[in-house]
Amino acid sequence: MTDWRERLSVPRDQFVPSVVWVAAPATDGFVSVSREEDESRWRALIDADEPIVTQVDDGETPPGGLGLQPSSSCSQPSLVATMLDALEVHEGHRVLEIGTGTGWNAALLSERAGEAGHVVSIEVDPDVADNARDALVRVGHAPLVVTADGTGGHPRDAPYDRVICTASVRRIPRPWIDQTRPGGLIVTPWGTDYGYDALLRLDVHEDGSASGRCGMSLAFMRVRHQRRQFLDPTAEEQAEADATTTARSGQEFFEITAFPRAAFTIGLRVPYCYVTVEDLDVDHRRIEFHDARTASWARVAMVRGADSFEVRQLGPRRLWDEVDDAYAWWRDHGKPTPDRYGLTVHPDGEHTVWIDTSAGEHRWSL
Ligand SMILES: C[S@@+](CC[C@H](N)C(=O)[O-])C[C@H]1O[C@@H](n2cnc3c(N)ncnc32)[C@H](O)[C@@H]1O
Repeated sequence: MTDWRERLSVPRDQFVPSVVWVAAPATDGFVSVSREEDESRWRALIDADEPIVTQVDDGETPPGGLGLQPSSSCSQPSLVATMLDALEVHEGHRVLEIGTGTGWNAALLSERAGEAGHVVSIEVDPDVADNARDALVRVGHAPLVVTADGTGGHPRDAPYDRVICTASVRRIPRPWIDQTRPGGLIVTPWGTDYGYDALLRLDVHEDGSASGRCGMSLAFMRVRHQRRQFLDPTAEEQAEADATTTARSGQEFFEITAFPRAAFTIGLRVPYCYVTVEDLDVDHRRIEFHDARTASWARVAMVRGADSFEVRQLGPRRLWDEVDDAYAWWRDHGKPTPDRYGLTVHPDGEHTVWIDTSAGEHRWSL
C-alpha cells in the first residue's frame, strides 16, 4: 500500500480554515490556533497525519475561548485514504457523502468520480457548509453541498453507487440503504453507545437489506442527535446508590475498556451504555457506565493494588451487572475480536449483528 500522501491528490491546506482548535490537556478542553498569529504551528498541524479540529461546541465557542466538545474536523489523512479505498469509487459513480466538514473529502471524491460522476455532500452545520462550498469553488470542484441532516440522505439525486459517512452512527439510517442501488456500497464508522466505533462496509442487496463486516477501529465524532451522553450524579444521589464490590482484576478491567479486547463485544450486548474512564491520580481510577435515557449509572472505584473494588449502581438498570455478564460472555465465547463481527440491516430496519457469518451460531438483534 502506498503512502497516504500519494493517494490523496488534493492538498488539505486549501480546506482547513485559518482558525483551528488543539487539545489543551491542562484544561480538558480545546484552545484555538490562528494561522495569522502562528503560521508554523498551523502548518505543522496540516502536515501531520492527525485529525484537525475545525469547530467546537457547534460553533458556539468563538476563537480565543475554551472549547469543550469538537463538533467538526478535517479527518486524519491516512484514515481518509483507507475509507476511500474501502469505498471503491470509480469514474462516473454517483456518490453521497454525509458530513462535509471542510469539504476536503468531497473534493477527493469528486476527483475519483470524475467529470462523468456526481457527488452530493451533506453537512448539518450551515457555517461549516458555507466554508466548504467556498473552499471547493477555490480548488475548482463542484460537488453539490446540501445543508441538512444527512441521516435522511438526499433522495432527489438518488440512486447512488456509493454512500460514505464521515461521522459515526449507532444505527444505519434506512434512507441510506433505500437511496443506494442494489450492488452499491455504504462505508461508515459504526458503533454502539459503549464508546468504540469500527469501520463498517455494507453491500446493498436487491431485497432492500444490506450486510457487511467490521474492520479497523476508528475514533469519529458522532452525527448530531446520536451523541453519547454521560451522567454526573450528585453526592446525595451517589450516597443513596446500591453499594457492592467486584473482585474483577485490573487486567480484567483493562479488557472491559479496550476496543480490541472485550469492549466492542460488551457494547453490542449492553445497549445504550456509555463507558467513561477517569484517572484521579496514579493510584485511583474511576470507571463509570451511563444510560442517560433511563438515568441509570454505575461506578467502579479502582485502587492500585487492591483485591476488590467498590461498585455503586443507580437507576432502573444495573449497568455494572450487565457489563460484568457481557464480559463473562466474551470470555466464554472465544474472546471474539471486533473484526469477526458483521451486521445485517433487514428491509424492516432490524439490525442483526453476527460473528463470522450471517447464518452462524452467534447472532442477535440490536
Ligand atoms: C469528521 S467531520 C467530517 C470531515 C470531512 N469529511 C472533511 O473532509 O473535512 C464530521 C462532520 O459531520 C457533520 N455532521 C454531524 N452530524 C451530521 C448530520 N446529522 N448530517 C450531516 N452532517 C453531520 C459535522 O458537523 C462535521 O462537520
